[in-house]
Amino acid sequence: MAFYFNEPSRTFNEYLLVPGYSSKECKIENVSLKAPVVKFRKGEKSELTMNIPLVSAIMQSVSDDRMAIALAKEGGISFIFASQSIESQVAMIKRVKSHKAGFVKSDSNIRPDQTLRDILDLKEKSGHSTVAVTDDGTSEGKILGIVTSRDYRVSRMSMDTKVSEFMTPFSSLVYANEGITLSEANDMLWDHKLNALPIIDKNDRLVYFVFRKDYDSHKANPNELLDSGKRYVVGAGINTRDYAERIPALVEAGADVLCIDSSEGFSEWQKETLSYVRENFGDKVKIGAGNVIDKEGFLFLAEAGADFVKVGIGGGSICITREQKGIGRGQATAVIEVAAARDEYYEKTGIYIPICSDGGIVYDYHMTLALAMGADFIMLGRYFARFDESPTNKLNINGNYVKEYWGEGSNRARNWQRYDLGGDGKLSFEEGVDSYVPYAGPLKDNITLSLNKVKSTMCNCGVISIEELQQNTKITLVSATSIVEGGAHDVILKDTTASPVR
Ligand code: IMP
Repeated sequence: MAFYFNEPSRTFNEYLLVPGYSSKECKIENVSLKAPVVKFRKGEKSELTMNIPLVSAIMQSVSDDRMAIALAKEGGISFIFASQSIESQVAMIKRVKSHKAGFVKSDSNIRPDQTLRDILDLKEKSGHSTVAVTDDGTSEGKILGIVTSRDYRVSRMSMDTKVSEFMTPFSSLVYANEGITLSEANDMLWDHKLNALPIIDKNDRLVYFVFRKDYDSHKANPNELLDSGKRYVVGAGINTRDYAERIPALVEAGADVLCIDSSEGFSEWQKETLSYVRENFGDKVKIGAGNVIDKEGFLFLAEAGADFVKVGIGGGSICITREQKGIGRGQATAVIEVAAARDEYYEKTGIYIPICSDGGIVYDYHMTLALAMGADFIMLGRYFARFDESPTNKLNINGNYVKEYWGEGSNRARNWQRYDLGGDGKLSFEEGVDSYVPYAGPLKDNITLSLNKVKSTMCNCGVISIEELQQNTKITLVSATSIVEGGAHDVILKDTTASPVR
């Protein structure tokens, strides 16, 4: 006879936190959101700790090198998507690792024979106003000049004007040679009253820009997550099929942590992949596994050698796995059960294996709930897809800005390995949709706001660390009617176009 769980499984929406006593210590500025990423022994510290408990999803529409740099600046980790060739994934990892804070590869480049129209198109696409003019139109070409909005007037010039006719030519540029330090570059920006300083190599090829605004933001990122060589920390997704080629290449490129990307991880394929890592790299390579949704699945991956375990099936915003296959579990219930299994395992073995709640975060308070229920950190897709830094197009639909967001199990991503446990990768049905999400602006502003809410809630609960939150918080189930009570109710929301009746 089948096994039946006694209780229905539940989502974050069905719970609320109940405040506890807050001492004067409980202030936002005292709250630490540090989170362990990989397993550690009792009395020791995790070898990889984030400054904020957020990672971005292993998805084409979420985590590329640009997202990884932006998130590492805020203290979290992106897992660069695995559904691409090994070469292109490696190139993304390398770009993150070679991105020196403050030194930026030029993302807007043009040839001198192109036109003002091309400049405007480029500006629209990248959102940046400094364009490098190079002989071959690439970010590494020989530098011939720069175009900024000071160099042209759209109202007075033909769209066909050649870039070479209005760019600021190399002979009039202030530039610096490769090898300059960030603080020397910053001095030059100030001394010459510049917004951008090109850094070139000995063959006059463009290497980086240093922007005044980036230098300021570097100073303003006290949480940035750096490795021992002061490079940004980055993760990478892998699959259970080409791991013997992909993993060595990613490790060589400098990936700090790996994660098996699979919709369902309680499988022999994951065990084999984890064994491969332990046999070939010992404990040097850190690797998470998943996804699972119960104690048995957690224990299997813990025993198989996972450094962290990812939790969640079917709760993702773009996910149709539950409809297509009828597998899954409410995300809150899955996290609660796996967290209990982790604690039991820790008691028994003295080894703490962090767990990551993956998918289904809709409101910011869901983050606090996931952490309070025992997640050490949280993976989000939809949340990050909305930002400037996600790799997808921004569109205007009926006056509203949106960004594209598609599932790894959609026809668009064609990441069949993620769903086909270890077979021939030729699944014939989708488990994800192709969608839009409302555009939300820069990552930094959004994360600051969301985490301030999390910290504020923690203060209400009388705690100032995630560990305390997990140990001391009171959580209550809510009835369907109290969910209605939780929103604005029994009022008519203001219509700003209405005028008073006299
Ligand atoms: P979200 O934060 O709710 O958007 O969920 C993101 C998570 O959904 C990812 O981290 C994956 O675990 C999962 N996911 C990504 N693509 C798909 C898909 O196509 N089908 C089902 N789940 C997906």
